Amino acid sequence: MLEDKISIIPNPVNMILGEGNFNINEQTVVQADPKLTEVVKYFTDLLLPATGFNVEIAELKSDLTKSNTIYLILNEKLSDLTEEGYSLKINQERIVLSAPKPVGIFYGIQTIRQLLPIEIEKKSETSGIEWIIPSVDIKDYPRFSWRGYMLDEGRHFLGKEAVKHILNLMALFKMNVFHWHLTEDQGWRIEIKRYPLLTEVGSKREKTQIGGFLSKKMDATPHEGYYTPEEIQEIISYADKLFIKIIPEIDMPGHSKAALAAYPEFSCTGGPFEVSTTFGIKKDVYCVGKEETFEFLQNILDEIIQLFPSDIIHIGGDEVPKKRWEKCQECQDRMKSEHLETEKELQKYFTKRIKKFLSAHNRRLMGWNQILDDKSTNDIIGHYWIFGKKIITNHLRKGGNVVFSKFGSAYLDYSYKFTSLGKAYQYEPVPKKLQKEYHNNVLGIEATMWTEWVRNIRELDWQTFPRLIAFAETGWIPKEQRNFKSFQTRLEYLHTRLDMLGVYHAQNQEYQPNFFKRLIGFFTIFKEPKRSSLS
Ligand code: ACM
Ligand code: ZN
Repeated sequence: MLEDKISIIPNPVNMILGEGNFNINEQTVVQADPKLTEVVKYFTDLLLPATGFNVEIAELKSDLTKSNTIYLILNEKLSDLTEEGYSLKINQERIVLSAPKPVGIFYGIQTIRQLLPIEIEKKSETSGIEWIIPSVDIKDYPRFSWRGYMLDEGRHFLGKEAVKHILNLMALFKMNVFHWHLTEDQGWRIEIKRYPLLTEVGSKREKTQIGGFLSKKMDATPHEGYYTPEEIQEIISYADKLFIKIIPEIDMPGHSKAALAAYPEFSCTGGPFEVSTTFGIKKDVYCVGKEETFEFLQNILDEIIQLFPSDIIHIGGDEVPKKRWEKCQECQDRMKSEHLETEKELQKYFTKRIKKFLSAHNRRLMGWNQILDDKSTNDIIGHYWIFGKKIITNHLRKGGNVVFSKFGSAYLDYSYKFTSLGKAYQYEPVPKKLQKEYHNNVLGIEATMWTEWVRNIRELDWQTFPRLIAFAETGWIPKEQRNFKSFQTRLEYLHTRLDMLGVYHAQNQEYQPNFFKRLIGFFTIFKEPKRSSLS
């Protein structure tokens, strides 16, 4: 039955099925608003390889009466669909896709893509397929403006082909924020012209811990890699065409051992250090007592700001041991001169200064929820991951914004036994205690991919898919329309499409383990996940 073939993720908010199909063939014409040139090119590039059709592109005429025509229309008046929404009407004669903004047209195209036979994903001309699209009437728009994916390239550098691969898949599922974690104890991954040692020294390590956080085993293969400014620009522009915003993260004052291996003078002890070869929290962090540390970090941020158009810069701020600051004369002097009672307050002081610098450059500071307290100003964007729910909820009540990535639910690095597909799908970001009038301050949801145990695209895919697709749906559809059973059915149909796209996703028996396996799931969090379908 045709209905079985309609399997769209995220599920459209409103969809009515019609009679019959629209058939794309060699005579099909696309009539599009002239402002949509790039989106039209994306669409025709999508159709060409498998169909072999070079569909004609024509100027948009005001009567929508031609047959065998796909109309792509920008209409500001459709603002009730919100910035990213679209309306898609398909019948046997024509397709009318309209939206207030190009991004809506782009998302409508992703819906058309998912309505087409899956062979549309083939890279070479495929005969014997009828390129039909079922008649539907869809009105669709997202619940959240932030539907994100974080990739940690500090622990493992995966390279630009992996990033583009992820960006392509994010676009298919209408996700729009790529949070790029570029610095870690284990590696500094972005060239900074003013401080060449950051990459000359900080992007390389001799060996790497394997097997899990408690394991003593090491892989003796050296690991290295970083992005040049040109490569960063290439990726930003690639993402831009997919309507994906890139948010860079330069983690500070913790998770900074790779930078300190290159420039030990910005630590409390003066080093020497090596780029970490094991995982977990490291006690050497930037010295907040030294004025030179601020100069160093601000010069780095200066280059980051010039490179990334994002109005938001993520500075991490998570997991900062205070041990070195307690023993450092300069840190203690700073606390005295600034009247700070605790080392925790010293970190607040640090965050405040970095925020001031970013604000002066018209950028908003974002950080993991440890940087927030009840005194934090509401221009900071909080990124929730663990503890401090009350502070986060108060931040939202003050008008501050928060993105949600709860540990255990939105962390893609863990095994499916600990974070099953169902657990990922059931994750609701809006705090229960938050009054309705503040719900709009919740920007959205983000799945984070930490890469301690992820070394290549295959492992990356396995951890990411299909869990990321669950977040794509829950970030888009209204809460009351969530339905895990329906999602699973649509996902089964999607497997073949993922296979065709060359995605090494986990298999059903792996991503939704039985009750007993999930029961012992917690005990897997210190270990490297077992990925049986990859071996
Ligand atoms: C984090 O997982 N340390 C944000
Ligand atoms: Zn210090």
